[in-house]
Amino acid sequence: MKNNNYAKLLLIVLLACSACDSKTEQEAALYPRQDSSEFQVFAKQCSSCHRPPMPDVHTAQAWTRVIARMQQHKEQRGLLVMNAIEQQTILDYLQKHAQKDQH
Ligand code: HEC
Repeated sequence: MKNNNYAKLLLIVLLACSACDSKTEQEAALYPRQDSSEFQVFAKQCSSCHRPPMPDVHTAQAWTRVIARMQQHKEQRGLLVMNAIEQQTILDYLQKHAQKDQH
């Protein structure tokens, strides 16, 4: 009987752990191509003031304007601004995974 309870407890712990594992994996998998160098630049440049946005919250066209505005926010706060290559890299990443235009 005692052994049986122990086995049940172990099973519950294992189930709970596998449940939380898959949850964090799911959350971590939300941003596309996290293994890419583009993502690294994006995550670094877009996380100091707020959580980096999901690429699909804007269309490819709209991202150009948003990036320019974020550059202004950086300037205003005296933060290191993005250089041309960084801006282009982030734009490439966001546009590749952007919300599809509605036609
Ligand atoms: C210097 C601080 C700062 C940094 C760094 C920053 N943001 Fe922002 N962001 C803001 C502020 C302030 C707002 C709210 C006002 C606004 O929308 O301009 C905002 C709002 C947003 C929004 C929501 C509004 C909208 O137009 O959808 C998005 C998306 C966004 N930022 C994307 C980015 C991206 C992409 C980067 C990296 C290139 C970035 N941010 C980096 C300050 C920052």
